[in-house]
Amino acid sequence: MPSNEGTIVGRGFIIRNVKKEDLPKVIYINEVTLPENYPEYFYEYHLDNWGRAFFLAEVDGRAVGYIMNRIETVMGLSRSFFQKKGHVVSIAVLEGYRRRGIGEALMRAGMKSMKDVYGAKSVYLEVRVSNDPAIKLYEKLGFKKVRVIEGYYSDGENAYVMEREL
Ligand code: ACO
Ligand code: ZN
Repeated sequence: MPSNEGTIVGRGFIIRNVKKEDLPKVIYINEVTLPENYPEYFYEYHLDNWGRAFFLAEVDGRAVGYIMNRIETVMGLSRSFFQKKGHVVSIAVLEGYRRRGIGEALMRAGMKSMKDVYGAKSVYLEVRVSNDPAIKLYEKLGFKKVRVIEGYYSDGENAYVMEREL
């Protein structure tokens, strides 16, 4: 995929950084696709701090997907004591636009930015244990299930924590 100033052109879609005026579209996609919803300031906080790792997918000018990430500093055990870790906070693609590579392209854009722009050495996320499409996507990208968090979601469902190196 050719890329230009952070814009990635895929087959029939483009991936570009989110701007403040895009947030209502991101929030709309989140609310129609996921039970985990957030107040507007939560999105703004991620945009203000890690905006170069926050991406929108568009098809014919319509916003159809997003990925919102953040960077956390964790204590490592070896060489470098403090390590930066990327955290995929939320990713979603509108139902009618799935299975055409948009989710994968969003993940790849997010991981590249977390590594190259923010210096993250690894990336992790939580996912519902029943969410097969998402788990398959993460496994395709080399993520491994590292542990289970019991009752992580508000309806009591468990989460897998999945992780990979960057
Ligand atoms: N069944 C099996 N494998 C799947 C499926 C599926 N339904 N969907 C994606 N995959 C896997 C496949 O390996 C696929 O590659 P392939 O098409 O070559 O076989 C690969 O993922 C890439 O698929 P994409 O087309 O890039 O993914 P898509 O654009 O459909 O987006 C997503 C995937 C984001 C998980 C989408 O299904 C979605 O929005 N779901 C609802 C929201 C959601 O669950 N988000 C994740 C929550 S966890 C979190 O945010 C950290
Ligand atoms: Zn999380």
